[in-house]
Amino acid sequence: MTQPFIALTFDDGPHPVNTPRLLDLLKQRNVKATFYVVGTNAKRYPEIMRRIVAEGHEIGNHTVTHPNLSKMSAEGVRNELRVCHEAIVSATGVAPRTMRPPYGAITSAQKSWIKKEFGYSTILWSVDPEDWKRPGSSVVTSRLLSGAGPGGILLVHDIHAPTIDAMPSTIDQLLAKGYQFVTVTQLLAMEPKG
Ligand code: NI
Repeated sequence: MTQPFIALTFDDGPHPVNTPRLLDLLKQRNVKATFYVVGTNAKRYPEIMRRIVAEGHEIGNHTVTHPNLSKMSAEGVRNELRVCHEAIVSATGVAPRTMRPPYGAITSAQKSWIKKEFGYSTILWSVDPEDWKRPGSSVVTSRLLSGAGPGGILLVHDIHAPTIDAMPSTIDQLLAKGYQFVTVTQLLAMEPKG
């Protein structure tokens, strides 16, 4: 892929304070992102879920309780995905189209049956600045910028305030480099098939 498209993804929310602040920042820049929500938070903050969708962002499934799926039975995995799916649909009326396994932990067999049963593509990432270790906003920004490339998927967490603090500088510098922000599903649609 040579076009400078990039996807910004936010995991583990929504968060009652940080997610609305992030949505304000994204709106000011007309940047669309993808939110991999946890089902417990989706149920708790349905108004924030609706705002995410109303402002043109995408929501993906990040399970209900954030377990390591690779160590679970098929029935356990199915339940995690189904309950989160239902929470997203119940809050927003929109069905998620992709999932991200917590910790990136998933087997290839699980990916395959999840695609068949739920229709989900399993989405990991190309850049992980490890913002959850709280390295500081400027470090999050510099790691994202140095890892970013065309077709990239950036992973951060909208439950951490310093990550939100890092977003204006990160987004503005990526925009200045010519990147266009798209959702994960938009990015997938651009990938050459085959
Ligand atoms: Ni997560």
